[in-house]
Amino acid sequence: MTTLLGIETSCDETSAAVLEGSGDAVALRSLVILSQDVHKVFGGVVPEIASRAHLTSIAPVVSRALDDAEVSLSSLDGIAVTSAPGLIGALLVGVCYAKSLAFARGIPVIGVHHMEGHLFATSLDNPDAIPPFTALLVSGGHTMLLDVEAWGRYRLLGSTRDDAAGEAFDKVAKLLGLPYPGGRHVESLALAGDPMRFRFTKPMVRGNDSPADDDYYQFSFSGLKTAVLNTVRASDNIERDKADIARGFQDALIGSLVEKTKRAAAAFGREKIVLGGGVACNRTLAEAMRSRAEVREVYAPAPRLATDNAAMIARAGLFRFEMGERSGLDLNAFASQPIPGLIAA
Ligand code: KG4
Ligand code: ZN
Repeated sequence: MTTLLGIETSCDETSAAVLEGSGDAVALRSLVILSQDVHKVFGGVVPEIASRAHLTSIAPVVSRALDDAEVSLSSLDGIAVTSAPGLIGALLVGVCYAKSLAFARGIPVIGVHHMEGHLFATSLDNPDAIPPFTALLVSGGHTMLLDVEAWGRYRLLGSTRDDAAGEAFDKVAKLLGLPYPGGRHVESLALAGDPMRFRFTKPMVRGNDSPADDDYYQFSFSGLKTAVLNTVRASDNIERDKADIARGFQDALIGSLVEKTKRAAAAFGREKIVLGGGVACNRTLAEAMRSRAEVREVYAPAPRLATDNAAMIARAGLFRFEMGERSGLDLNAFASQPIPGLIAA
């Protein structure tokens, strides 16, 4: 049995968690997530402000996570911390804090790849969301389609050529005059929208696609965003049209996500699909995946595990820890880095 503290500061949530367990038998003892609301004023994350906010909140967030778990520092076996990818200044706060604490306690620190964390997140609530499965990770910064043969063995099948899925939601929200971050506002507006009025084409999906095409699993959302922009500009009554536009946009975007994920599950004979990242909070996406993807089960994380959190970092860290991996005190932060465990697609 291993007890790990997880720390996540890659973007705009300061988060800490305590996780206990071995293999896939784990128990989340605590999870504290402090979302930096300050960025709402600017309509996007301001990196320098994010780093400073992490600095002021990291210590209280960590002690709160330990208190909630009723775990003392001396019972920790190690500290898992997001070391890549993310905003460099923000990552450095978590990495430096984790290294200092680990050094002071004489325990190891384990650098964790943020996207590997997202892969593990759903399994914290759904014990069956374990490999093999097809994974779709969709957040404000990333869109990744992976085949997960086993923990630590990943085939990267597709990613986005331009905007991430969540970024497209946020930009369309802005065009429609909705608050930031806009994904959930677009989703609720779309629920009331007419699906027939604005029919945008599903990006990167054609009638005659073949697995030999180099974009068979790829995504692209900037063209869709421009189509929405042109429609908004052409509207003579945006208040009347905006729910219908949101619906058309969301149908096209989800249509593309579902089609590519379905292709990947079929190609590798997977019976499970696991969703992760902030856009996985979108219930319309999960429902569409369930009804169209032709797999046995689709797992979507609870919202607090879908968005950035330290529980998933502790969980991925436990996997790496059990593999014998330790980072030195020279652990550094990287703005970008390939997910570990990649095997040929
Ligand atoms: O994973 P996350 O918290 O942070 C990043 O690493 O980016 O994801 C945030 C993204 C934002 O773009 C937000 O608009 C989107 O997730 N999001 C949603 C929904 N809830 C959050 N997108 C669509 N529908 C939602 N219900
Ligand atoms: Zn994330």
